[in-house]
Amino acid sequence: MKRACLLGWLMLALVAPHASSADAVAERGRYLATAADCAACHTQPGGGEAYAGNYAIESPLGTIWSSNITPSKNYGIGNYDEREFARALREGVRKDGAHLYPAMPYTSYAKLSDEDIHALYVYFMTEVTPVDRASTETHLPFPFNLRFSMAAWNVLFLDGKRFSANASHDEAWNRGAYLAEALEHCSACHTPRGWLMQELSRQAYAGAPLGSWYAPNITSDPVSGLGGWSDAELGQYLKTGRVPGKAQAAGGMAEAITHSLSQLSDADIAALVRYVRSIPPIKDATVQRPAFAWPGSPMPESAIRGTANEAVSGPSLYSGLCASCHGARGEGSRDGYYPSLTHNSTVGASRPDNLVAVVLFGVDRTVAGKHVLMPHFAEGSYVQTLDDAQVAAVLSYVRQTFGPGDSMNAGDVARIRQGGSPPVLLGLVRYGALVVLGIFVLLFGWWFGCRRRKLGARV
Ligand code: HEC
Ligand code: HEC
Ligand code: HEC
Repeated sequence: MKRACLLGWLMLALVAPHASSADAVAERGRYLATAADCAACHTQPGGGEAYAGNYAIESPLGTIWSSNITPSKNYGIGNYDEREFARALREGVRKDGAHLYPAMPYTSYAKLSDEDIHALYVYFMTEVTPVDRASTETHLPFPFNLRFSMAAWNVLFLDGKRFSANASHDEAWNRGAYLAEALEHCSACHTPRGWLMQELSRQAYAGAPLGSWYAPNITSDPVSGLGGWSDAELGQYLKTGRVPGKAQAAGGMAEAITHSLSQLSDADIAALVRYVRSIPPIKDATVQRPAFAWPGSPMPESAIRGTANEAVSGPSLYSGLCASCHGARGEGSRDGYYPSLTHNSTVGASRPDNLVAVVLFGVDRTVAGKHVLMPHFAEGSYVQTLDDAQVAAVLSYVRQTFGPGDSMNAGDVARIRQGGSPPVLLGLVRYGALVVLGIFVLLFGWWFGCRRRKLGARV
């Protein structure tokens, strides 16, 4: 009996430290999965099981469905070993060797450290509940259904280097850089893309269209970017998605804040702020004034006189549909829940995309258990469905009264409703898919040429 007890103690003494350190690794993995925002794309909105996939990403080339990444052996990643998991995250290659589309941000995750990949793997394998259900399969049109073409794309655009600390900056800055570049993949949305959909590193964070939305310039330029924001304001925005007098977060930014940024530690938010503030300024010559700096102007003539057709009258639509929450003079509610429309970067931005998108799709964000909701006015709205001309009318009024003063037309609204301008690549497909295939073949040829030349040089 005594001996059994002793043996028990011995075993506990041997196992306990391992168990607790394995727990600590899994816990770190959980935090990393949050910081990398895996859930935003791998969990179906509206109550889908965690990480079971089936989230549709509307890419300009067609709908891309995310995978089930629960440890289910039949439908998830239960059969992945750690090396295969690392290859999927950093190189965009599935267990079966097929290439993933860069809708999975592996170009950012390529920078993840081995230690973090390990912690993520332990977390997914031990803490995530397996879900035995297949995610929807992706079927892009020819030639994008040829997944191997992504191998050529990777050769050109995947920089497989791990993150390495910059010795001329301190630890907090480097932590911020790692968070922004490797985990949070801010550039996946905020950096403009070239015609093959690659991020243009020379214009890092200068702002980019994102379907119907537009991810603004977040460089340190004082007029086109965030130069006019204080550190505290930027930290508050990332943590809560709302800064009175500056901006609120909707669209993809609301998702990033709901699932990821709002759950980061204060030290990590401060590190992110440090790094983002240091992004070199990129000026957009067409922007004359910071988006948040429009104080509002007197009511336009039309608002006072009224218009013949009330159904498309901006002032009537505004007072019927918006004023109850945002106030007749766009002043917002006193408690700040309904934001002011003056000094509001969505209203004042030189590109009106997010203003249109917010009216069409609404705002939906949850931070620290508090739900922020603005109804949408597209098809199926519980308030009223607005057509393109009506949205243009109410937003012309909003732009003229609270923002830069320009007017909007139904064509702009239609373009944004349909998900923004199609990329050049898609134009080529309409022209003839073979042209694109030809381009890929040429790129392959060019790559082979380069390799052979390099090999030749080595001999
Ligand atoms: C911006 C969206 C997005 C984010 C964020 C994201 N993924 Fe993905 N992921 C995808 C999409 C889309 C696919 C499927 C792509 C395809 O089919 O080509 C995918 C595929 C995968 C696969 C391949 C699984 C398989 O066998 O099909 C793994 C593994 C994976 N993701 C893990 C992760 C992990 C872990 C994270 C967080 C560290 C993450 N993803 C974050 C969009 C995302
Ligand atoms: C999924 C895409 C996506 C990701 C990832 C993303 N953003 Fe954004 N971001 C947006 C969009 C879209 C907006 C515009 C939101 C709006 O106006 O409602 C935005 C707005 C912002 C703004 C407000 C700018 C202004 O002038 O109003 C800041 C600051 C910002 N993002 C910083 C970041 C940082 C830092 C990261 C990484 C930690 C990040 N974003 C990651 C899409 C994204
Ligand atoms: C039921 C109340 C309600 C109505 C009606 C309403 N809004 Fe909003 N609006 C909100 C809330 C809530 C937010 C989000 C505040 C936040 O993000 O913190 C918001 C945010 C906005 C924003 C900032 C968008 C961003 O990027 O986050 C704009 C611009 C806006 N509304 C314009 C309008 C216009 C124009 C109308 C009329 C067509 C309208 N709203 C009708 C409640 C409302």
